[in-house]
Amino acid sequence: MKVLEVKQLTKTFGKVQALDGVDLAVNKGEVYGFIGPNGAGKSTTIRILLGLLKPTSGFARLFGKDAWEDAVAIHKRIAYVPGDVNLWPNLTGGEVIDLFLKMRGVRVDQSRKARLMEQFDFDPTKKCRTYSKGNRQKVALIAAFAADADLYILDEPTSGLDPLMERVFQQCVYEAKKKGSSVLLSSHILSEVERLCDRVAIIRQGEIIESGSLASLRHLTRIQLTIATKEVVPDLDSQPGVHDFKIENQHYVFQVDADQLDEMVRYVSQYGVVNLESAPPTLEDLFMRHYQGSTSGGGGQ
Ligand SMILES: Nc1ncnc2c1ncn2[C@@H]1O[C@H](COP(=O)(O)OP(=O)(O)OP(=O)(O)O)[C@@H](O)[C@H]1O
Ligand SMILES: [Mg+2]
Repeated sequence: MKVLEVKQLTKTFGKVQALDGVDLAVNKGEVYGFIGPNGAGKSTTIRILLGLLKPTSGFARLFGKDAWEDAVAIHKRIAYVPGDVNLWPNLTGGEVIDLFLKMRGVRVDQSRKARLMEQFDFDPTKKCRTYSKGNRQKVALIAAFAADADLYILDEPTSGLDPLMERVFQQCVYEAKKKGSSVLLSSHILSEVERLCDRVAIIRQGEIIESGSLASLRHLTRIQLTIATKEVVPDLDSQPGVHDFKIENQHYVFQVDADQLDEMVRYVSQYGVVNLESAPPTLEDLFMRHYQGSTSGGGGQ
């Protein structure tokens, strides 16, 4: 069952095309990673999902309802955490958490709220104006996870958290998933996405350029090879799928696209392989390649 569905979504701000035909679908009980460089369109997509922005064309549906038309009904079922949390400076953290929860109109489990404050090592008695970025984020995270939601929409929610708190956050997501909730998590942190997400979409310049399970994306990555052969291998650098070719200490050192590996090994083996080392494909490599291709220079936020 689809909890969230975005089809051919576009959004323009004056001359800026922030989104250009975005498709996304998140199923019930799924943690979905939404990744891309600064200015790619993650927050714009999320603002449309929250009913804060009207799409230029295309549609965004949550629980089968239109994000713009049915925002009131939708908001009863979602919890949202932005990357940059603005709070009322003169209220305490504890007061703001209660206010956020009241605005969601949900029944609050007080012991769960207290447990989250403890896990996040959060002091709710201080005025919000005194909180650091990380502490402001904790306010929003505690308010989000202190009550159940069918869908958690998290827009870079951990950019201000230290690694220990990042772990607490991951546990929260894991528990929400166990209860059958869905999560849309936008992130720059690859390890976070790898650990938590069932599927991911990579967005760049307003377009989804890859999406699928992490396993299926791994197939798109390149494998690092170091090979020595008895005879010289002719034209190795111009074989399909070969990248970054060089010769070091009488070894061929290069990368090969995962889907060309079989063909490559067959070609090289004709020349008597005497040594072959490979390094596993990493998602890091895939993401960096996609990131580096970005030329938008978009301002982000
Ligand atoms: N209100 C706005 N007016 C004009 N342009 C905007 C507005 N909001 C976003 N943009 C532009 O739309 C594009 C997408 O921005 P968006 O904030 O969605 O990116 P993002 O993926 O969330 O980036 P980041 O990782 O930096 O948060 C950028 O080029 C940005 O400058
Ligand atoms: Mg953003």
